[in-house]
Amino acid sequence: MYENREDLLIHAWHECGEALKDRGHLFRTFSLATIRDGQPELRTVVLRRVNAERWTLGFNADVRSPKVGEIQAEPRVSGLFYSQPHGFQIRFRGTAVAHHQDDVAQDAWDKTPLLGRRVYLSPAGPSERSEIYQSNIPPELIDREPNEEESVAGYANFVAVEIQVESLDILSLAFDGNRRAEFTRDSSVWLLP
Ligand SMILES: Cc1cc2nc3c(=O)[nH]c(=O)nc-3n(C[C@H](O)[C@H](O)[C@H](O)COP(=O)(O)O)c2cc1C
Repeated sequence: MYENREDLLIHAWHECGEALKDRGHLFRTFSLATIRDGQPELRTVVLRRVNAERWTLGFNADVRSPKVGEIQAEPRVSGLFYSQPHGFQIRFRGTAVAHHQDDVAQDAWDKTPLLGRRVYLSPAGPSERSEIYQSNIPPELIDREPNEEESVAGYANFVAVEIQVESLDILSLAFDGNRRAEFTRDSSVWLLP
């Protein structure tokens, strides 16, 4: 398998596309690193959009969350996907854009189901500190999803982040020798595993 390094790249983008269709897919979430106060900061996000031709990946976030400000201050990001059963890892570098109240955000919002919109209705910004436990869910919505009308207010807090992937480091584990290669849009090279 993967005698040709281009096959690693094809497989990587294919699996990202599959993850959009399958909630249980291990590439459904990925780790994203931004820079906070000069230091790398990681978190899990849900993969929401993939364009294998344009090398873009997308996720959604609350405009009030620290990650959005971090991306606005330093758009260069790194991300990581790993599937343990397949021994397949993708590390990427890219440049992120936080879309707020534009066409990209509107399109992503329209595709967000009502329950998914509920988090954007939280009264306080995510990551705010509190001495007491707070669900940060509006009390009337604690046990249900908002209806369409109730969900509208969440749009003001909604951000669709699009990442332009610039390079990929793909690793496939195998007993007869791991395969690892690095890709940019116009070059590729094997990396010794
Ligand atoms: C499985 C999982 C999926 C998550 N998906 C998202 C996501 O798509 N967007 C997001 O902003 N936070 C997501 N989170 C929460 C972040 O990992 C993180 O805890 C939170 O956003 C911290 O905010 P900050 O990175 O802006 O400080 C997810 C967490 C988990 C465990």
